Amino acid sequence: MIAPHGGTLVNRLLEGANAEALASKAASLPVLTLNSRETSDFEMIATGAMSPLEGFMGQADYEGVCDNMHLASGTAWPLPVVLATKGDDDGSAYAVGSEVALQGEDGTLLGVMTVTDNWTPDKRAELEKCFKGDDEHPAWDYLESVGNAYIGGTFQAVALPSYEKHNEFRLTPAQTRAAFEEKGWDTIAAFQTRNPIHRAHEYLTKVALEQTDGLLIHPLVGDTKADDIPSDVRMKCYHAILAKYYPLDRTMLAVYPQAMRYGGPREAILHALCRQNYGITHIIIGRDHAGVGSYYGTFDAQDIFDQFEDGEIGINTLRFEHSFYCKLTGGMATTKSSPAGPEDKIFLSGTKVREMLSNGERPPAEFSRPEVADILIDSYAQKVEA
Ligand code: ADX
Repeated sequence: MIAPHGGTLVNRLLEGANAEALASKAASLPVLTLNSRETSDFEMIATGAMSPLEGFMGQADYEGVCDNMHLASGTAWPLPVVLATKGDDDGSAYAVGSEVALQGEDGTLLGVMTVTDNWTPDKRAELEKCFKGDDEHPAWDYLESVGNAYIGGTFQAVALPSYEKHNEFRLTPAQTRAAFEEKGWDTIAAFQTRNPIHRAHEYLTKVALEQTDGLLIHPLVGDTKADDIPSDVRMKCYHAILAKYYPLDRTMLAVYPQAMRYGGPREAILHALCRQNYGITHIIIGRDHAGVGSYYGTFDAQDIFDQFEDGEIGINTLRFEHSFYCKLTGGMATTKSSPAGPEDKIFLSGTKVREMLSNGERPPAEFSRPEVADILIDSYAQKVEA
């Protein structure tokens, strides 16, 4: 089994009497409310999905990550994982050395953090260094939505956040590792996605299945942009396509709680390191992974892996060129496997696909399996009715 990033699978979740004791102590502490992105980060830190992080980043880690993609310890890490104050809270209630109770937006106590850092970040620098972003980048919307201080420190969790959706598919890294062990899979490919699985996606996962013992379809279900397809609709699509078109003894479905950052190459590294913690040995990275607009080059999210020294990142990448249905060869292909000219490729823009689906029309079977198209057509129709 592949070692977690940093060597040890972190577990910050207390149980039984220890959790109860911490919960009663929390009642007298100042409270910080986590927004939904921070709540999913909390869950991932607590369960070891973000190993070696044991809490929200302090200033030295944050600056190391923004400046050169390494934590203060020297371990590779590509993006900030921070806890911000909200509204006009200036953070003065959370003094360095004090403890703070962390709660979800619904008021549920999640854990207690020992504050080691309390600082005012340069959000503009974070936007530029980490996202190559400007005011139009979704990262700026997020940075503007939180307060002006970051509060860092390790925490202990008394509970994991509770959710209404996908609970059966919320496997922790310890649980996916145990499942792989039980199945006898040594090499496992993960497919990160924030979309329904169309034919190009399916092709990448099938090529991966040719090379590895098993495949984990691992859709991101944390916050996404308003125009991304909601996770409950996507989950219906995944069930439908898996049931008919995948070898179920070699394929698994679980959800990935993280929020999308739209950080392109840096986010590809984040997706990879966290998947390593889940026990994954190979992550699929295709064209414009975790991209948005035209902020990143088509293959930046592949090239960035080569900036790290050997051994810094344990997980392997399965890299893909732009994949398409090729009329010439009569199958899915990339420019690496087909001499197709532009006229041989079935290519539909996202806008065109949305237009077809909202008109109740199935995109061609070479683009999307009909079972997936029908679920999306239904969901568009329900949106219009609502
Ligand atoms: S992402 O934000 O999770 O990267 P998406 O769900 O669109 O977005 O993509 C999932 C994975 O499939 C990513 O690794 C992406 O690079 C890859 N991908 C999507 N479409 C294609 C395509 N046509 N050709 C090659 N790779 C693709």
